[in-house]
Amino acid sequence: MKKVAIFASGSGTNFDNIMNRIESGVLSGIKVTALYTDQPSAQCIHLAKQHGVEVHIYEPRTYPNKSAYEEDVLNQLNEEHVDWIILAGYMRLIGHTLLKGYEGKILNIHPSLLPKYKGKDAVGQALNSGDRETGSTVHYVDEGMDTGQIIEQRTCPIYQNDTKEELENRIKALEYELYPAVIQKIIL
Ligand code: GRF
Repeated sequence: MKKVAIFASGSGTNFDNIMNRIESGVLSGIKVTALYTDQPSAQCIHLAKQHGVEVHIYEPRTYPNKSAYEEDVLNQLNEEHVDWIILAGYMRLIGHTLLKGYEGKILNIHPSLLPKYKGKDAVGQALNSGDRETGSTVHYVDEGMDTGQIIEQRTCPIYQNDTKEELENRIKALEYELYPAVIQKIIL
């Protein structure tokens, strides 16, 4: 059984989907030790409680610097014997401390066909680009912003009259299939 920690900052629908897959047995051999969040009022916290998953809230602003923040997170991860970190809407760059502690063992999902549209508002960037398709990418995490080695991508069309919300939902539907599939393949 591999132990994973899921990091999220917002709505947490990917986290919720992963938990549903584990609970229904579609995703197996993985135990989520806890949800880690930097946002004390994030929606993902409520979802974690519904799934009976422990929540760890670490607020970076209460630390003198990023390393001190990550040091505390790392200690907790080690205490729980976490093997892999899964970022699912965690809105922060991972720093040296966590990268060193979990080298090659951090995955992220990003709502674009990387290397296109890195960083914030990838969906809006794709919508405004005139591109006819976009998608989602799962990749390893390195020190850059959405620059780590790509593992797998799924694509979907962009329609002419799409609103951002419509496109976002289309991409999330891809993510709910893509992320569990990659987790199963890479982590086990
Ligand atoms: C996802 O679209 C993911 O690609 C990006 O952040 C979003 C998180 O959504 N990194 P949610 O919190 O899982 O609903």
